Amino acid sequence: MSTPLKDAVRGRPLPTIAETVIEVRDLTKRYGRNIVHQHLDFDVRRGEIVAVVGGSGSGKTTLVRQILGLERQSSGTIKLFGEDTSTLDGNTALMMRSRMGMLFQHGALFSSLNVFDNVAQPLRELGKIPDELLRDIVMLKLEMVGLPCKHASKMPAALSGGMVKRVGIARAIALEPEMLFLDEPTAGLDPQASDEFVELISTLHRALGLTVVMVTHDLDTMVALSTRVAVLADRKVLVAAPVEEAAGVDHPFIREYFLGLRGRRALQALPPDRRAKLPPAALEPAPAEIHL
Ligand SMILES: Nc1ncnc2c1ncn2[C@@H]1O[C@H](COP(=O)(O)OP(=O)(O)OP(=O)(O)O)[C@@H](O)[C@H]1O
Ligand SMILES: [Mg+2]
Repeated sequence: MSTPLKDAVRGRPLPTIAETVIEVRDLTKRYGRNIVHQHLDFDVRRGEIVAVVGGSGSGKTTLVRQILGLERQSSGTIKLFGEDTSTLDGNTALMMRSRMGMLFQHGALFSSLNVFDNVAQPLRELGKIPDELLRDIVMLKLEMVGLPCKHASKMPAALSGGMVKRVGIARAIALEPEMLFLDEPTAGLDPQASDEFVELISTLHRALGLTVVMVTHDLDTMVALSTRVAVLADRKVLVAAPVEEAAGVDHPFIREYFLGLRGRRALQALPPDRRAKLPPAALEPAPAEIHL
């Protein structure tokens, strides 16, 4: 799908990978006797797209929620833009939140609000914005995610899964954040809608110089988008590296996830220079899926 923004950023270089913007050190998170994270370290630099993968229940959503300040760590430090989040006063924490946009795993939109009001909601929370300005900002965000204005008055129930995700992204970027967090953004989308979503994130990444942290089970999305992949296993980040390197780490989850049929098929779609760095087991034939 061609959009004005996509055309405008075509050929633009990728954002430069710069200073560390997320620094998680020796993080422990417990729910009662359930230890979700233990001695977990995690870094993200400005301009990166980091995919977070791991088994169900490995703590991916919990990690993102702690980084966003929606959940408190049991111990350890989280620094955002160089500042320790545990020492921020209320106002600074609020400012920090506005620098980060989020697309949640479940309930991407408020079902009782139409598209316009969903996207306007974070702006309205900021305070009084003149109606005309609000309208312009919302319409601009909808255009940026490739949604024609005519959908603005629709209710979420009247949208396709792919459109719901687009509106969710429009809302997440309403306050022009520097970082975007996505939790299973392509779950439930058909392959075409997933591909379009990958295009959209790639376009926004270039256009806005965004830093993206994306939780995903979807190997194709991960391979197509991520500059690095962080693998959550054994309560910590086992490895955080370009996917061709992460795939070579000797661990049962990595063998199963990256070197199974689907994993190999996704990895073999890497460009030749990166494919050359894959472990030999990833290069074994991965026949295309047969649909009977
Ligand atoms: N609010 C909570 N109270 C108690 N336990 C929780 C809470 N939130 C998460 N957990 C537990 O923490 C662990 C990690 O959950 P989390 O939702 O972060 O996993 P996930 O990796 O995102 O899984 P999925 O792939 O299924 O989304 C699970 O054992 C879960 O039961
Ligand atoms: Mg989750």
